[in-house]
Amino acid sequence: MDRKSGPSLIERAAQRLADIKHEQAAEPTDPPPPSDVQAKPTEEDGGRTARPSDAPTAAVGPSRARGGARNITIDLDRLAAMGMITPRAERSRMTEEYRVIKRPILLRAFAAGEDAVKDANLIMITSAIPSEGKTFTAINLAMSIAKERDVYVLLVDADLSRPSIMSTLGVKADRGFVDLLEHEEMSVADVLLRTNISNLSVIPAGRPHAMGTELLASERAGQVIDEIAMRYSNRVIIFDTAPVLASSEGGALLKHVGQIVLVVEFERTKKAEVLGALDMLESCEYINLILNKSRTRLAAGHGGAGYYGSYYSSDG
Ligand SMILES: Nc1ncnc2c1ncn2[C@@H]1O[C@H](COP(=O)(O)OP(=O)(O)O)[C@@H](O)[C@H]1O
Ligand SMILES: [Mg+2]
Repeated sequence: MDRKSGPSLIERAAQRLADIKHEQAAEPTDPPPPSDVQAKPTEEDGGRTARPSDAPTAAVGPSRARGGARNITIDLDRLAAMGMITPRAERSRMTEEYRVIKRPILLRAFAAGEDAVKDANLIMITSAIPSEGKTFTAINLAMSIAKERDVYVLLVDADLSRPSIMSTLGVKADRGFVDLLEHEEMSVADVLLRTNISNLSVIPAGRPHAMGTELLASERAGQVIDEIAMRYSNRVIIFDTAPVLASSEGGALLKHVGQIVLVVEFERTKKAEVLGALDMLESCEYINLILNKSRTRLAAGHGGAGYYGSYYSSDG
């Protein structure tokens, strides 16, 4: 199907949201989160327990524990208060929506045999223009996937010009992805942070860098991403990136990932902008569209994230 002559994205979105309402009614619940989420102190975090009552309210930095691993504690109460998903068992509309969103992404990420898709466990979150909700989506998707048993998630802040994963998580970090790209002697382990969610790790963006696009397009970036992909082949790796129409950073990352999540802010992003973004991304075969911040009858309530289907470049 030629996407430019088919039903408009917004029409497909409306139809998809209507379908989702029916699907969600019949949706089974997630298995309970791993029992050590939140409650148990881990050996690496020096016994610091993430009880809600002692969760920090201000941003705190990583602590270095025995063995050199660096750990951060994400304040899950604060995240929940921001309306975001946490790996606890609570039910919310957002949790339900992300259950629908993550399912096809995970199926593709871990498809085996004939159905296997190269690098499908490497997922780039992007949008056409700024502030559509990439970081919001990246964190919610990471949290939602971390609710799955036996699935490990690595969340990478690759939006080098406007990084905001760490500030949203309420954690300070002095170095990250950009430092790893710049310094050949550094390894992934130097910038990877374990969290109080046992199956979620984070790589911060690092300090701001004027040459973000060049670094992401460099040979070194290819090596780093290959290292991440090989070392963590059993993991879903989520890259929060820059908006494609506003920056060339995302384009540089594109060739390394197997799936894209294109976040579209409902009623703000113009159809031409969405189509422009799809054109820029078309070398990736698997693009998942998320309609974000919808406040329509179909996704009643405030600020929802409706999933409206996959767009396959190969259809065009
Ligand atoms: N579905 C949503 N519901 C409510 N607020 C949202 C939603 N998505 C994004 N936001 C808010 O919109 C703002 C921009 O989102 P953000 O994820 O930072 O955008 P981006 O990373 O694309 O620039 C943030 O304040 C974020 O909390
Ligand atoms: Mg962002």
